Amino acid sequence: MSYLQTMPPHDIEAHLAEHDNKSILRFITCGSVDDGKSTLIGRLLYDAKLIFEDQLANLGRVGSPGAANGKEIDLALLLDGLEAEREQGITIDVAYRYFATSKRKFIVADTPGHEEYTRNMVTGASTADLAIILIDSRQGILQQTRRHSYIASLLGIRHVVLAVNKIDLVDFRQQVFDDIVEDYLVFAKELGFTSIRPIPISARYGDNVISASANTPWYKGPALLDYLETVELDPIDREKPFRFPVQLVMRPNADFRGYAGQVASGRISVGDPVVVAKSGQRSSVKAIVTYDGNLETAGEGEAVTLMLSDEVDASRGNMLVAPGSRPFVADQFQAHVIWFDANAMMPGRSYILRTETDSVSATVTTLKHQVNINSFIREAAKSLQMNEVGVCNISTQTPIAFDAYKDNRATGNFIFVDRVTNATVGAGMIDFPLRRADNVHWHALDVNKGARSAMKNQRPAVLWFTGLSGSGKSTIANTLDRILHARGKHTYLLDGDNVRHGLNRDLGFTEEDRVENIRRVAEVAKLMADAGLIVLVSFISPFRDERRMARELMDEREFIEIFVDTPLDECARRDPKGLYEKALAGKIANFTGVSSPYEAPENPELHLRTVGHEPIDLALEIEEFLDRLMEDK
Ligand code: ADX
Repeated sequence: MSYLQTMPPHDIEAHLAEHDNKSILRFITCGSVDDGKSTLIGRLLYDAKLIFEDQLANLGRVGSPGAANGKEIDLALLLDGLEAEREQGITIDVAYRYFATSKRKFIVADTPGHEEYTRNMVTGASTADLAIILIDSRQGILQQTRRHSYIASLLGIRHVVLAVNKIDLVDFRQQVFDDIVEDYLVFAKELGFTSIRPIPISARYGDNVISASANTPWYKGPALLDYLETVELDPIDREKPFRFPVQLVMRPNADFRGYAGQVASGRISVGDPVVVAKSGQRSSVKAIVTYDGNLETAGEGEAVTLMLSDEVDASRGNMLVAPGSRPFVADQFQAHVIWFDANAMMPGRSYILRTETDSVSATVTTLKHQVNINSFIREAAKSLQMNEVGVCNISTQTPIAFDAYKDNRATGNFIFVDRVTNATVGAGMIDFPLRRADNVHWHALDVNKGARSAMKNQRPAVLWFTGLSGSGKSTIANTLDRILHARGKHTYLLDGDNVRHGLNRDLGFTEEDRVENIRRVAEVAKLMADAGLIVLVSFISPFRDERRMARELMDEREFIEIFVDTPLDECARRDPKGLYEKALAGKIANFTGVSSPYEAPENPELHLRTVGHEPIDLALEIEEFLDRLMEDK
């Protein structure tokens, strides 16, 4: 599943329907690989006799020497089927396991514990009511414990079980348990959990898992299963406003048009009025269709197709909502972001932002601060590293419909997807829309780009020169500029060194600053192209991501990437500004090619090898390319 799952898959719902009058507890287990997450769930199911026969037959299959003599079963293997699914490349990151006792139904999000754990945990936790935080009695509270607890709280989980595991390995000593609990309560005070239930357990031997253990006579509380069966959940908020992200418009024939999707929150009945969130078009529900026949009413989690009384424009990417309580529609908002990727999140870099409904280009305009998960102190930061959490202002290319996460988990969350690898690199919880977005509008200008460039008798273009420092970018750009100017063309040359004296004088050469440097200059180039100019941009622009961002800002075929390709040792030999000498002597930090990377273009429109060629010849080559392009309308 590529984005935050708000509901378990359908067959689970079907199974659970059998136990319909019982309440459902959704929970997640958090811990690192060796803390015993899988063993605990395995033990819970096994001791409560909740395992299916076929699964039991497989236990002891692999690895566990204990299993062979029939005395000890490797309970972690119970969850192994999921590993197999994952290895086959099925796109689930989180598998939902379900079981039921006589008192309650349970859905547990099983999240694999490898290094991408945070990502999977976020997916699982976004629908959970309760988190079991596992602690190794021998180790106490770790950095991970803090991170998982903070993320659980951020994602709206209000109940925590502190499972102090492997209590057998510390001889069932009460003091160890008490110390851990005390530490945890101090730390968790600010996390806003409604309940925290500490339980000393041994997942391996079953102490306090389904029944009270004789080994911990000092512990008077419930066993884990008892607790899970009886913990009081926050009442489902039936009053939540109706939200229905449209996943598909069904049009099997001319008479039928239906909007298929899953009710994200609230309830809808035949006859109820609805509004298309973004356009404000109104209609009402004519029928609620499912494979098993029509319904009078549908609620949270149900997958249905809605037929409306009027023709409205509500394609995928839209949301049908209750007219009395509409979501925000905005292109700027503040959010808490959790970063998962090894490549840090950079303000100014463009990502795909996906919600239940929308998928749009987005950038973080400001990283306001990051949150130190040990102290909860806000710290200044220029980027977010893997596993860090920050508060950001985000700007999307087109407006999206959303709620604040605190009001609605389903419609207030999003993920960031890397544009190249398609990997999920971060997740966010929206805090609120930025009011300034309401008050800044595009002005339709009467004198437009077409009029401006027609008067100049040219087509606007952005010639983007990229290459190492000293590769010859500026010399070639300058020569070309003279040629074009002499021919009566209207041009402007934006040069890295020059722009860094003015507009970008506040920026240095860290990765973050270079991202911002290129973002600004790309925006300026766009305005200049809009004014009808041929813009020459000469910046090292070492990162592919930002060059792509610049390309996407411009109109079709307007952006011409020119790779000025000079080998590093040749640049260092030429060393026109004496910078390589200094950089190689360690006197300049983050110097491109020496101590900071340069990502060569993969598909530039022009690839100029400078060695053995004069700048004038290379400039003429570009001119020729440009002429061909301009003829070829
Ligand atoms: S970019 O990487 O952010 O695109 P830009 O083109 O604006 O760089 O600036 C590069 C110019 O700054 C170089 O031509 C060089 O004159 C100067 N410079 C100073 N320090 C550095 C550095 N650490 N790395 C690269 N260029 C530097």
